Amino acid sequence: MFITFEGVEGCGKSTVSEIVYKKLLEEKYNVILTREPGGVKIAEDIRKIILDKENTKLDNRTEALLFAASRRQHLVEKVWPALKENKIVLCDRFLDSSLAYQGGGKNLGVDEVLHVNLFATEKTLPDLTLLFDIDPQLGLDRININKNREVNRLDLESLNFYNKVRETFLDLAKIYKDRYVIIDASKPLDEVVSETYKIICEKINGRS
Ligand code: TYD
Repeated sequence: MFITFEGVEGCGKSTVSEIVYKKLLEEKYNVILTREPGGVKIAEDIRKIILDKENTKLDNRTEALLFAASRRQHLVEKVWPALKENKIVLCDRFLDSSLAYQGGGKNLGVDEVLHVNLFATEKTLPDLTLLFDIDPQLGLDRININKNREVNRLDLESLNFYNKVRETFLDLAKIYKDRYVIIDASKPLDEVVSETYKIICEKINGRS
């Protein structure tokens, strides 16, 4: 079972995924939590190039290809082996982030970015994608309160960019109805956590 967490910055997906992961562990589920690049050295090295604020010349298509390359390495070294061992894999961001950020936000086109990513992933798609939907302004406000967070190259985008990313995620949720569930991430954290946990347990136990 491959479950991904998606959304714009400040949506809370990383916090929620960590809490839900611990709850699943307590319930003795065979589960791992990972995030791209997931501590895989080659994937980390690629990621450094993408997020380096000095890399102002990085072309949008190069960026999309690098994300896809990093994603593949993380799949090969970490996600596929875990899935083979029948583990539940929770992953903070996956291919849908590329569709929304590079395809939508950077206007490369969702279909083209999907094409490149299906090559990279050999058509591996999540069984369940949880979209933590929030007004990007609210998400950015949350991040700004947490001033200790390190700013990366993609944090320097405009509100208009994040609005496009959000809209693309919502479009994807309509296209991929079978695997997407939208969660209202503007709700209080404990509500978001319990809704997320419930959806995941239903999926794991075959009720949806
Ligand atoms: P990170 O700090 O890991 O993001 P977050 O904590 O929000 O998940 O930085 C990742 C940035 O890269 C984030 O702005 C989203 C963006 N991104 C893409 O543009 N495309 C992708 O395929 C992925 C995985 C991330």
